[in-house]
Amino acid sequence: MAKMLKVLIVYYSQTGNTEKMARAVEEGAKSVVGINVEVKYFARPEELAEADAIILGMPTYYHDMGIDMKNLLEAVSKEEIDLKGKVGAAFGSYGWSGEAPIMLVEIMKHKFGMDVIEPPIRIKYNPDGEGLDECRKLGKTVAEKIVKSALDSSG
Ligand SMILES: Cc1cc2nc3c(=O)[nH]c(=O)nc-3n(C[C@H](O)[C@H](O)[C@H](O)COP(=O)(O)O)c2cc1C
Repeated sequence: MAKMLKVLIVYYSQTGNTEKMARAVEEGAKSVVGINVEVKYFARPEELAEADAIILGMPTYYHDMGIDMKNLLEAVSKEEIDLKGKVGAAFGSYGWSGEAPIMLVEIMKHKFGMDVIEPPIRIKYNPDGEGLDECRKLGKTVAEKIVKSALDSSG
C-alpha cells in the first residue's frame, strides 16, 4: 500500500489563541480523506523531513517568533534536512504588529525552498468564528494540495 500522506502542524502558544488556530487548521486538514495529521508543540528536524506538508504556527511576542521554533529551524538548516518542494504554510495570533508568521513564511520559502501558501493567516488576539473558518480552510487547502501532487506524480 502507498505511504499515507502526512501534514505536520508545529505550533507554540502562550495564552491559547494560536492554539485555537492550530486546532482549526488540524480539523481542516483532517477533513481530507487519506491524510495523516499530526499536531505538535515541539518537533525534531527529522520529523519535518518525514512530512509531506509542514504548517507552522507562532504568536508574535516582542516583534519576534519563539526561541523553540528558531532552534528547530536552525537545526533543520545545520543538519541539512531537505525540505525543498514540500508544501508549507504559517499562521499565528498577534496583537498589533504580527511579524512571526511572516518570518516563518520567508524562511520556509527562501531558506528551505518550500512551496509556500501565501499570505500566512494572522489573527488579532482571540480568533472568532470567521477566523477559525479561515484556519480550517488553510488546513484543507494544504491537504488537498499534497493529495493532488501525489496523484499527479503517480501518473
Ligand atoms: C509581553 C508581550 C509582548 C507582545 N509583543 C507583541 C508584539 O511585538 N507584536 C504583536 O503583534 N503582538 C504582541 N503581543 C500580543 C500577542 O501576540 C497576542 O496576545 C497573541 O494573541 C498571543 O497569542 P497566544 O495566545 O497564542 O500566545 C505581545 C503580548 C505580550 C503579553
